[in-house]
Amino acid sequence: MTAFTYRNGTLCADAVPVSDIAAQVGTPFYVYSETRLRENYRAFYEPLANLKPLICYAIKACANTAVMRVLAEEGAGADVTSGGELERAIHAGVKPEKIIFSGVGKTPEEITAALKLGIHQINAESIPEMRAISAAAAALGVHAPLCLRVNPNVAAHTHYKIATGEMGTKFGIDAAQLEEAMGLAKSLPALDLKGFQVHIGSHLYDYNNFREAYGKLADMVRAWRERGYDLTRLDLGGGVGIPYDGQTQAPFSDYAAVVHGTVGNLGCELAFEPGRRLVGDAGALIARVVYDKRGAAKRFLILDAGMNDLIRPAMYEARHSIMPVKEASSDAVAADIVGPVCETSDLFGEAYLLPGVGQGDLVAIMQGGAYAAAMASTYNGRALVPEVMVSNSTFRVIRRRITVAEQIGWEEG
Ligand SMILES: Cc1ncc(COP(=O)(O)O)c(C=O)c1O
Repeated sequence: MTAFTYRNGTLCADAVPVSDIAAQVGTPFYVYSETRLRENYRAFYEPLANLKPLICYAIKACANTAVMRVLAEEGAGADVTSGGELERAIHAGVKPEKIIFSGVGKTPEEITAALKLGIHQINAESIPEMRAISAAAAALGVHAPLCLRVNPNVAAHTHYKIATGEMGTKFGIDAAQLEEAMGLAKSLPALDLKGFQVHIGSHLYDYNNFREAYGKLADMVRAWRERGYDLTRLDLGGGVGIPYDGQTQAPFSDYAAVVHGTVGNLGCELAFEPGRRLVGDAGALIARVVYDKRGAAKRFLILDAGMNDLIRPAMYEARHSIMPVKEASSDAVAADIVGPVCETSDLFGEAYLLPGVGQGDLVAIMQGGAYAAAMASTYNGRALVPEVMVSNSTFRVIRRRITVAEQIGWEEG
């Protein structure tokens, strides 16, 4: 079931009309469906269940603690990319033994904090980082459970800003440096090398990219085992896409088949770091039309939500589906759906048809769960919008609006 459907002519998140939420919290706001979050987790877990996967939700996608808590209740761990995300995951109740620490620039302080907590795994992305991890672990008198993030030099069919698996990006250890890294993993006393990690990009719709990367990973495991390395873990990263406006996505079972076919019989523990796939379609950004501007050449519907609230269209040329909150079937005059921010890139939809929508009406920008609220800013002197969780027929605010007055307070101590 999708989380957002029309009931009695009005768009609902599960059983709650989003107009009821708007009346209480004001616009714009993000709304998430607890039911959909749980469904998404189960849909990811079940086709892989026989491999007993550790699914670490990549909390960068939406780091609200209430969202994390729902996924943690389902069994998810967390993939974190900073000390701040680590703090959030722990606060949300994620057990350290289900936390993976990713990222190219972990500071010695962040590494120490993670090791003190006894997290499941740290992924090293470079030789200097391996040395820093070993130094931090030695100072604490522990062994760091380590995976090496390898750069498999695989092109991912996605936006170039979120492709991470080719040589020349900052991510992972290149094949040319793997020999040195593997030697170091053996010689540095406080490293406990468990295996490899790979993450070739985000929002991948062609599962053949995963097939290529995971195939290379499997070859690496076999080759290094022959050389005496006891490799017991593979972390397959995240990256599974979801359909945005007008897109399609092959069923998740096809991805699971790729996993089974490439790395399923290596006898390794498997971890995954999905972000978008767990939360992307569980959220929406609800906004109101401030003005219906009829220019000489074009019509614009100017919303009270802007690129500071949802930056994906401006940053990745993403196109989210946009829906009227009040269901209507009348013909519509095409309009550009834009925000109020002083940038031409503050554009959510071009020549978009929104039947029945005019000044004062509510619209929903869909697929708003991933890399949406998490990437919001206060640009143009704007508040950070509230986030709301719907649980069947009830809702609650899980982050209140952070007003500009409050932000001024940050500056004035
Ligand atoms: C290391 C790592 N793991 C997991 C993810 C989550 O990716 P996605 O949200 O596409 O599943 C990312 C995001 O790009 C990442 O950089």
